[in-house]
Amino acid sequence: MTLRCLSLRLRRKQFLPSILSLLTICVLLLFCVKHSYITEPSHIAMDMQIIPKYNIDCSAIYDMDPVEVGKSLLIKKKDVVESKDESLAYLTSNCTLFRKYRGYDNVCVTEEEQDFPIAYSLVVHKSAWMVERLINALYSPSNIYCIHYDQKSSVQFISAMEGLAQCLPNVFITSKKESVYYASISRLKADLNCLSDLLGSEVKWKYVINLCGQDFPLKSNVELVSELKKLNGRNMLETSRPTPAKKQRFTFHHELKDASFEYQKLPVKTEYVKNPPPHNIEVFSGNAYFVLSRKFIEHMNASGVPGEVPRSKPDITDLMSKTRLVKWQYLEEQLYPPCTGTHVRSVCIYGAAEMRWLLNYGHWFANKFDPKVDPVLIQCLEEKLKEKQKLFQSVSLTCHKG
Ligand SMILES: *[C@@H]1O[C@H](CO)[C@@H](O)[C@H](O)[C@H]1NC(C)=O
Ligand SMILES: *[C@@H]1O[C@H](CO)[C@@H](O)[C@H](O)[C@H]1NC(C)=O
Repeated sequence: MTLRCLSLRLRRKQFLPSILSLLTICVLLLFCVKHSYITEPSHIAMDMQIIPKYNIDCSAIYDMDPVEVGKSLLIKKKDVVESKDESLAYLTSNCTLFRKYRGYDNVCVTEEEQDFPIAYSLVVHKSAWMVERLINALYSPSNIYCIHYDQKSSVQFISAMEGLAQCLPNVFITSKKESVYYASISRLKADLNCLSDLLGSEVKWKYVINLCGQDFPLKSNVELVSELKKLNGRNMLETSRPTPAKKQRFTFHHELKDASFEYQKLPVKTEYVKNPPPHNIEVFSGNAYFVLSRKFIEHMNASGVPGEVPRSKPDITDLMSKTRLVKWQYLEEQLYPPCTGTHVRSVCIYGAAEMRWLLNYGHWFANKFDPKVDPVLIQCLEEKLKEKQKLFQSVSLTCHKG
């Protein structure tokens, strides 16, 4: 219902401003508002699509057909509908319905996938439906998903996350939650909390991958299993010798200080020099994302680190490590084609015209995606991943029903 109302509201702009039509809209809006309060969850899925489905041909987008890409540009300009956190919280209040609506009861996996469980550490703080779509796109009943939501998250978002954990047996909320600030130790702690819980889980996962709410996969579960097997116990992450500027971050104490509205707080350098790290450890720099073996996590506190990158090895840049494809504004047209969505803090939020490039670049995940910037791209990636999952699944399919 809510969705229909929204599309009516959007369409209103095109209507001739005749009093009659305005009146009709008002009556309809009132009707919708009234209904959105009294509708049972079971009516939500039947009456409307909570995740808007756009009438677009994704194969044509992938083939960069100018007409279809043009259509996606129009949609992104005027037809973007936000899926509210409340609706996910509400839908998950009836798990049978939620699982049915989102297809969790019809997931098919190969024996290979079943024998190779993957763990996920999801550090998220907003856009509940994107978190659900991320899990949905990577879902296998044999995997395990840990969600760390921010202590600062809204109550609606939190109840949607709790709802997901309630409805999906292999999704859980971390036992310890941090108040996460960008670029501070709290960001790392959030992942560590999940990693520690994941180690304690019954699922004997082989690798762990961390994700944030604006990531989206470029490979399906069956492809990820095959890629992870190829790593042969090695980890995959960016690791480079730090620049002198970056060295300051770990040679001086930093303190969280109030910052602009967007970040709230940021680590700021003090004059206090830190003690050097113990055991003659040499610090390398990378990014927030990793693919780590179970053995690595198990040994994180002990001596010796399976899958390590020896100190003598050359740097592994973010483009070599396939954990996360990020398009930096200042490297566009030098290293990769321009961004067709928009930029935020010099990072591209992808648009539909980049679908082919994204899927063929070779990375496993990309950042950033936002349904408010380009809803078509996310819809088409979902479709393409489902297609690839089917294509790569060989024999020995087991389908999970209810
Ligand atoms: C949940 O949804 C199912 C399927 O639509 C429906 O049959 C059932 O009555 C609902 N349960 C509750 C408690 O609303
Ligand atoms: C690391 O070791 C500490 C102390 O022994 C333990 O409490 C924690 O769970 C370990 N963390 C991981 C991720 O293994």
